[in-house]
Amino acid sequence: MKVGIIGAGTMGSGIAQAFAQCADVDTVYLCDIKEEFAENGFNKIKKQLDKRVAKGKMEQSAADQLTGKIKTGLNTICTDADLIVEAALENMQIKKDLFKELQENIVKNPNCIFASNTSSLSITEIGAGLEKPVIGMHFFNPAPVMKLVEVIKGENTPDEVVDQVKAISEKLGKTPVQVNEAAGFVVNRILVPMINEAICVKAAGVSDIEGIDNAMKLGCNHPMGPLELGDYIGLDIILAIMDVIFAETHDNKYAASPLLRKMVRGKKLGVKTGIGFYNYADGKKVPTDKQ
Ligand code: 3HC
Repeated sequence: MKVGIIGAGTMGSGIAQAFAQCADVDTVYLCDIKEEFAENGFNKIKKQLDKRVAKGKMEQSAADQLTGKIKTGLNTICTDADLIVEAALENMQIKKDLFKELQENIVKNPNCIFASNTSSLSITEIGAGLEKPVIGMHFFNPAPVMKLVEVIKGENTPDEVVDQVKAISEKLGKTPVQVNEAAGFVVNRILVPMINEAICVKAAGVSDIEGIDNAMKLGCNHPMGPLELGDYIGLDIILAIMDVIFAETHDNKYAASPLLRKMVRGKKLGVKTGIGFYNYADGKKVPTDKQ
């Protein structure tokens, strides 16, 4: 199977690695709007694999075989793809334009499946007006490790495409969960308002950053506290998901925390900008209320 990943950011490169790990996949096209962005995504994968090799968790030959499957470039290299997974910016028009271009001008394989890794946007709307159906194939960060794929059936996604994508997810070693069209799907509808609530708890001064994270790690056995997880996912993504769920439901329980909005405006987005609820300068992780 040949897979085209469109967008080589955190999710796109992680998804590319997840596919390259699969024996049924011989080629992964990792694409972005500039070749250097795609190269950066590839280097992220290489760095992650180098770490595993250094720890003795992976043979160098296995890492080489995996990276050997990945070809980087512009999306025009995806001509013979069997599956496209779009992981571009969370912007409806960008996604619609991308799928139109891929379906009309780039992908020549008539059986290609077109999937989006959108974290909350409507699959039905992304697919509206396109010649071929679109399906949601939602991975979780870090994509090579997390076991879930939400398979989102838009209003016009045929059942057979849903079944094909579930089968592909299983081949990746993941567990697919079928989800109907709904803002935030299942995980983000539950997880992101929880992170938003943790930000409200911080803003209300109920506890400090480490206190809130430790409470949820030790009290609920979560692997990461909600504020560190928000930093890890990206606070801009958290805000965008809250806004999508609010716009769809008009329910005030999905109103984004003003502190979250303020931090996003200030480019304090978490790990990717080096500062969010924690400061990541010099490879450290220091809560910003303890500096
Ligand atoms: N890429 C690839 N592999 C990674 C990785 C990455 N970015 N980060 C960690 N790993 C691997 C490590 O190599 C290691 O593998 P190994 O055991 O075979 O060596 C394994 O994951 C565990 O990593 P670590 O030992 O370094 O660290 P932890 O045990 O603390 O686990 C974690 C790290 C898996 C990130 C864990 O903290 C966790 O599960 N956190 C919660 C993540 C989560 O909730 N994700 C969902 C976010 S929501 C989302 O993505 C949806 C989107 O739409 C917003």
